[in-house]
Amino acid sequence: MAAPGGARRQPLLLLLLELAGLMHGASAVFVVQDGNKTACIMANFSADFLTNYITKTGPKNVTFSLPPNAKVLNTSSCGKENASNPSLVIAFGGGHTLNLTFARNATRYSVQLMSFVYDLSDTQIFPSAISNETKSDESITDIMADINKKYRCVSSNQIHMKNVTVTFHNATIQAYLSNDSFSKEETRCMQDGPSPTVSPTTPHHSTSPPHPSPPHPSPPHPSPPHPSPSPVPEIPSSYTYTVSGTNGTCLLARMGLQLNVTYKKKDNTTMTRVFNINPNKTHVNGHCAPQQVTLDLQSESSTSLFFLFGMNASSSHFFLQEIQLNMTLPDAKDPTFKATNNSLRALQATMGNSYKCNAEEQIWVTEAFSVNIFQVQIQAFQVEGDKFGSVEECQLDENNMLIPIAVGGALAGLVLIVLIAYLIGRKRSHAGYQTI
Ligand SMILES: *[C@@H]1O[C@H](CO)[C@@H](O)[C@H](O)[C@H]1NC(C)=O
Ligand SMILES: *[C@@H]1O[C@H](CO)[C@@H](O)[C@H](O)[C@H]1NC(C)=O
Ligand SMILES: *[C@@H]1O[C@H](CO)[C@@H](O)[C@H](O)[C@H]1NC(C)=O
Ligand SMILES: *[C@@H]1O[C@H](CO)[C@@H](O)[C@H](O)[C@H]1NC(C)=O
Ligand SMILES: *[C@@H]1O[C@H](CO)[C@@H](O)[C@H](O)[C@H]1NC(C)=O
Ligand SMILES: *[C@@H]1O[C@H](CO)[C@@H](O)[C@H](O)[C@H]1NC(C)=O
Ligand SMILES: *[C@@H]1O[C@H](CO)[C@@H](O)[C@H](O)[C@H]1NC(C)=O
Ligand SMILES: *[C@@H]1O[C@H](CO)[C@@H](O)[C@H](O)[C@H]1NC(C)=O
Ligand SMILES: *[C@@H]1O[C@H](CO)[C@@H](O)[C@H](O)[C@H]1NC(C)=O
Ligand SMILES: *[C@@H]1O[C@H](CO)[C@@H](O)[C@H](O)[C@H]1NC(C)=O
Ligand SMILES: *[C@@H]1O[C@H](CO)[C@@H](O)[C@H](O)[C@H]1NC(C)=O
Ligand SMILES: *[C@@H]1O[C@H](CO)[C@@H](O)[C@H](O)[C@H]1NC(C)=O
Repeated sequence: MAAPGGARRQPLLLLLLELAGLMHGASAVFVVQDGNKTACIMANFSADFLTNYITKTGPKNVTFSLPPNAKVLNTSSCGKENASNPSLVIAFGGGHTLNLTFARNATRYSVQLMSFVYDLSDTQIFPSAISNETKSDESITDIMADINKKYRCVSSNQIHMKNVTVTFHNATIQAYLSNDSFSKEETRCMQDGPSPTVSPTTPHHSTSPPHPSPPHPSPPHPSPPHPSPSPVPEIPSSYTYTVSGTNGTCLLARMGLQLNVTYKKKDNTTMTRVFNINPNKTHVNGHCAPQQVTLDLQSESSTSLFFLFGMNASSSHFFLQEIQLNMTLPDAKDPTFKATNNSLRALQATMGNSYKCNAEEQIWVTEAFSVNIFQVQIQAFQVEGDKFGSVEECQLDENNMLIPIAVGGALAGLVLIVLIAYLIGRKRSHAGYQTI
């Protein structure tokens, strides 16, 4: 009589496990193996799909998630060198397949192409669809990582195809595996930006993968209104921005840029976030005028950062006079964040010279916004031969140089004192006592 009880308990357990899986967003590990049962692709993610299809009453949008029972098809492949690419093909529901095709070069690999084939005759997902055809859509992706590192993206990453948007969450993907498991080292996606610990949720209003990535809205759980800690971000990558006009180059600026914004979230909590400017994803514009030089940085997302350099003709100095920022913060109470200050006096040097600072400089624009500048060397207005002129080092660097000098001096003094003490001691001992 023990058997029926056990038989009943098992489905219940499965159901519980399934529910737990659903609550975790139903992520799954997908593995593609070669003929020797060695894994060449591993992937762990949850995915949501947004599609438009035609019903009798007109077009309809439908969203659905990759179900927990999605399977890797054996049409997946590890690829053949120079002949075919590795691909991960996942099937689910009534004949839908997601196909991730990888490509690599010496240093990096990427999901070069992603295609989604969906069958409109699946009435569970596409109720009252007019057509029962199979449709297919595809797109390139920005999923990319270093060879022998896993791609890691906690944030949502949306891949926009023509009629389908695929949103990945909490993704770990690696192809060209070398030892049958995910590497320890990872390449973070751009969406995670400088603060990868932000919870992953779907930003339905954000479009293509941007950098600096706009923060993704947090789940609507209540939290007390206190400032949230912001994890320490990476140092922004340095880039040489140039602005030229009819008289040649009027701005040469090598620097790494980081934005530090503080804002109120929808639940009234205060949030401080830092965003690195990724020069690879930024449009650079600017203007040369006799009295003004501007630098305009537009990132793929709706972030625009504007610098204006002014000059003092009588003292023959240039300096950073104005910073403007317009950006979108999807989780902010007021998603349009604007800050401007046109009475700055930073990064100042004599005309024809360049201002240089190895130390990080924080320039306050407003109470809620500062720009952190890393490893800056900058010269505005007169730039001879597109090269930096004589260097004027910032105060911070000079102070930093004083420390080793002071320490060195102190050490030298100490050595001297010990030496003198020793000499005196020796003399005394010669005078007073007999040494053995
Ligand atoms: C299987 O392993 C053998 C020996 O390591 C190798 O020669 C062969 O190419 C492998 N086959 C595949 C499909 O990877
Ligand atoms: C479907 O979604 C798109 C954008 O995602 C929107 O422009 C369109 O109006 C939506 N259509 C319907 C019928 O809801
Ligand atoms: C997946 O996509 C690649 C590239 O388009 C293609 O070569 C391959 O045949 C596709 N696999 C399947 C099973 O559709
Ligand atoms: C590999 O591809 C990446 C991204 O497309 C590119 O930045 C890099 O320069 C390439 N490396 C080589 C060695 O071709
Ligand atoms: C759906 O497909 C079946 C065959 O698979 C076909 O007989 C039928 O006419 C199709 N229906 C429509 C509405 O196209
Ligand atoms: C996208 O949808 C429209 C109408 O909904 C359709 O006419 C078009 O063929 C679809 N495109 C693709 C690539 O499926
Ligand atoms: C993200 O995925 C990892 C496994 O890759 C899992 O341990 C973790 O719980 C997931 N986090 C969320 C928030 O789903
Ligand atoms: C950002 O600004 C806040 C004050 O608003 C400050 O406490 C924090 O240290 C700054 N973070 C960085 C990385 O500059
Ligand atoms: C946030 O604060 C405003 C004004 O102080 C108040 O009206 C609003 O209800 C608060 N919202 C939440 C979600 O607490
Ligand atoms: C920008 O691109 C260069 C060369 O393509 C690459 O070396 C660098 O890592 C990229 N920087 C970022 C932040 O992606
Ligand atoms: C370019 O040089 C000419 C002559 O030196 C000067 O008159 C003019 O204002 C300069 N233009 C700019 C944009 O600096
Ligand atoms: C920011 O937006 C304002 C309008 O609200 C506009 O005048 C200004 O030029 C914008 N600044 C930047 C840097 O895009």
